[in-house]
Amino acid sequence: MSLFRRKNVEHMLASASGTSLKKTLGALDLTFLGIGAIIGTGIFVLTGTGAVQAGPALMISFIVAAVACGFAALAYAEFSSTIPVAGSIYTYSYATLGELAAWIIGWDLMLEYGLASSAVSVGWSGYLQSLLSGFGVALPTVLTAAPGALPGQVTWFNLPAFLVMMAITTLLSVGIKESTRVNNLMVAIKVTVVLLVIAVGVFHVKPANWHPFMPHGWSGVFGAAAVMFFAFIGFDAVSSAAEEVKNPKRDLPIGIISSLVVCAVLYVAVAGVVTGIVPSAQFANNPHPVSFALQLAGQNWVAGFIDLGAVLGMLTVILVMNYGQTRIIYAMSRDGLLPARLSKVHPRFSTPFFTSWLVGIVFGLIGALVPLNVLAELINIGTLAAFSLMSVAVLILRRTHPDLPRAFRCPGVPVVPVLAVASCLFLMANLQATTWIAFLVWLVAGLAIYFAYSRRHALLGRAPSEASGASARLNERETATH
Ligand code: ALA
Repeated sequence: MSLFRRKNVEHMLASASGTSLKKTLGALDLTFLGIGAIIGTGIFVLTGTGAVQAGPALMISFIVAAVACGFAALAYAEFSSTIPVAGSIYTYSYATLGELAAWIIGWDLMLEYGLASSAVSVGWSGYLQSLLSGFGVALPTVLTAAPGALPGQVTWFNLPAFLVMMAITTLLSVGIKESTRVNNLMVAIKVTVVLLVIAVGVFHVKPANWHPFMPHGWSGVFGAAAVMFFAFIGFDAVSSAAEEVKNPKRDLPIGIISSLVVCAVLYVAVAGVVTGIVPSAQFANNPHPVSFALQLAGQNWVAGFIDLGAVLGMLTVILVMNYGQTRIIYAMSRDGLLPARLSKVHPRFSTPFFTSWLVGIVFGLIGALVPLNVLAELINIGTLAAFSLMSVAVLILRRTHPDLPRAFRCPGVPVVPVLAVASCLFLMANLQATTWIAFLVWLVAGLAIYFAYSRRHALLGRAPSEASGASARLNERETATH
């Protein structure tokens, strides 16, 4: 039964209401936070991969991915407005689904946040190189990409991707979090760049490029949707700010859903424009497809601005993802599921210093050594699995805690959460077989660690006397329910 022991929801809520974090954020801030975390490598880089796979029907792929995210977001919003405590769906699921499921979700989320920061560092590198080439500066080819990333070229190591990760890690490890002001500035830059692509690009669209609209049929469209799901990841970052929101029950759902809608509209427009300017097949292996389209249209200045905006704007995505990753590891370690060392706080900087560097170096190396497409698929499968479990959790919470006050109720329960699960599974089914194999290996490794270590070290599982000292480290009071 210990596999299903759970944190106590009421206690978590009680401790959250006594929190000392300042409550300053409103719905608009949250929407900006969401957009800041969402727009990044997905639209700026993977659009090229998606266009090759789906052709101009990439526009439909974006809509399919957005609809799946929309269902998941509605379930997510109910969850985050019911249990507004810091931590991601890992914490929520510990209270509802029990320890084993929480572990699996936390383990999956490491694929999401950790590898996403690697993936975005690769995207960042592509745009930095495009920007530098505008000034006639080129790095030695071997240091520009991961081995095997550029067919026909010998590449060893993506140096800019690694270096940007080290820079971000330095900031995070000494406690520099992104301020709301910096985030708002980055969002303004990214949205301006995306609008610039649309506004300038639309005059260079040749409708002939939209034929054939669906060169690889529906399988191409759905395959691309499964990849482009990556472009929407990040809307869940909004919920991790729950404790700092003035009116979480109203503002969280608005923040999550409106950031998703804004991005979906922008993405469809960008997909339409770039596939209208360049025949889709020409995007193959291009590390900066959006500025490439504008270059082909003869708009070199605009392309330069896109490079610059992407380089600046993607920094916040790396920061948010990296921060999310350290905090999930921190939360899991605090609960005893991972070694205590990982939740040790630096005496001077008040940050999980060791964990920040561990995460930075490991995921920095992954970004430098693994091609982007492989990373994106792995991230998606991990995130989709976590979202499916979370949607199930919403259904469970309705049964186990029917009277818990929910300011935002997911409409159409059970249909919407069931659709969320179905659409996540559908996208997962459209990922490649190799991705599934890697994911299953990851899951098996996770389960092995759980049974060999975490289950026996979990604070919830300890006898009260033994746990009393250790539980002082916990913010929430917890009880085991058997
Ligand atoms: N959605 C984020 C991006 O596209 C992860 O970079």
